[in-house]
Amino acid sequence: MGRVLSKIISVVGARPQFVKLAAISRVIPAGVEHRIIHTGQHYDDAMSGGFFSALQIDDPVTNLHVGSGSHGTQTARMLELIETSLKDEMPDWVLIYGDTNSTLAGAIAAAKLNLPLAHLEAGLRSFNREMPEEINRVLSDHASDLCLAPSLRALEQLGHEGLRTKSVFVGDVMVDILLNEKTSIQKSPPKLPWKIESHEYAIATFHRQALTSDMPRLTQILDTLQNSEIPVYLATHPRLAKEIEQAGIEPEKGSLRLVPPLAYNEMVWALMNARALVTDSGGLQKEAFILGVPTATVRSETEWPETIDLGWNRLVWDDLSELSLFLREPPTGQVDSHPYGDGRTAQAAVDALLSWGK
Ligand code: UD1
Repeated sequence: MGRVLSKIISVVGARPQFVKLAAISRVIPAGVEHRIIHTGQHYDDAMSGGFFSALQIDDPVTNLHVGSGSHGTQTARMLELIETSLKDEMPDWVLIYGDTNSTLAGAIAAAKLNLPLAHLEAGLRSFNREMPEEINRVLSDHASDLCLAPSLRALEQLGHEGLRTKSVFVGDVMVDILLNEKTSIQKSPPKLPWKIESHEYAIATFHRQALTSDMPRLTQILDTLQNSEIPVYLATHPRLAKEIEQAGIEPEKGSLRLVPPLAYNEMVWALMNARALVTDSGGLQKEAFILGVPTATVRSETEWPETIDLGWNRLVWDDLSELSLFLREPPTGQVDSHPYGDGRTAQAAVDALLSWGK
């Protein structure tokens, strides 16, 4: 006899997790209570509250207001507070998302309380242990009772790590939200801080520690973007804004323009009309791939190798001059495969939770 499932707790804290949460919260069946613990890792309205309202996430939320700190401090604060919340809630499943410090804290808190733990977006690897996100992924997968893989390659990786019997392929929930958003945006497009009619512009975003704290590299990238033949709009994550200000750099020269972090629908609309994307974000690489926007990923590796194999994404790291070439010559590959699911992943993930162990 399987157990009756009546309560799921989602633990989230950072921007990309709110998008994934929106997909899941839409398909939780009546009769199952879904509660949300928001660690408060992201707290600016542009990074957090705005996403909840725009994505119509209206389930009950406990906000732990943990805020910023070193990795250890931030994760430890979360762990203590999540444990207290979980003890009060005693859910049938704890669901964690992606690879942030909030993911890891949720994983440890649930595992130590012996609560059933599921990891959405399991099995992704950059094989770069210097990335805080890589540590978070590996530890979260190994602490979980159920690993929900976004691609077949991720599922295979879970197998290599001895986790195959507790893993299932469901696809990527970000595809669900993206396809949904694309349809509603076409009906009522949001307003952007620049004119999009010409389609002759690129979008840029950078937020990873490895890049924002490497001033010589960052300066070289900004310099290349300033010299681009088409305008480049850099949507500025607060971490990047702080680093640029502290270094006393003046990035708005030539073709480069800074804009605030975009709301989700604004970013999708901006991408749908862009000629290219330059980013270090995991989520955006994949969204651009699905929308058919050529991308240069400013990293030495990616968790989404299918985007490269299919010709839409290129890693630019050792030789930054490839960035200027990239902005001149868009690739011609077609998206002819859907390695990340068909837009019905959230349902598959929730079905897996409901039926697991029965
Ligand atoms: C985190 C995740 C990363 C994810 C990204 C999405 C980890 C280790 N990294 O990186 O995987 O892709 O979120 O954005 O969890 N800050 C603000 N306001 C905010 C949020 C952050 O000012 O609302 C500033 C703070 O100075 C903070 C810095 O940004 O110290 C970095 O934030 P943090 O949450 O540590 O990591 P992210 O770079 O956002």
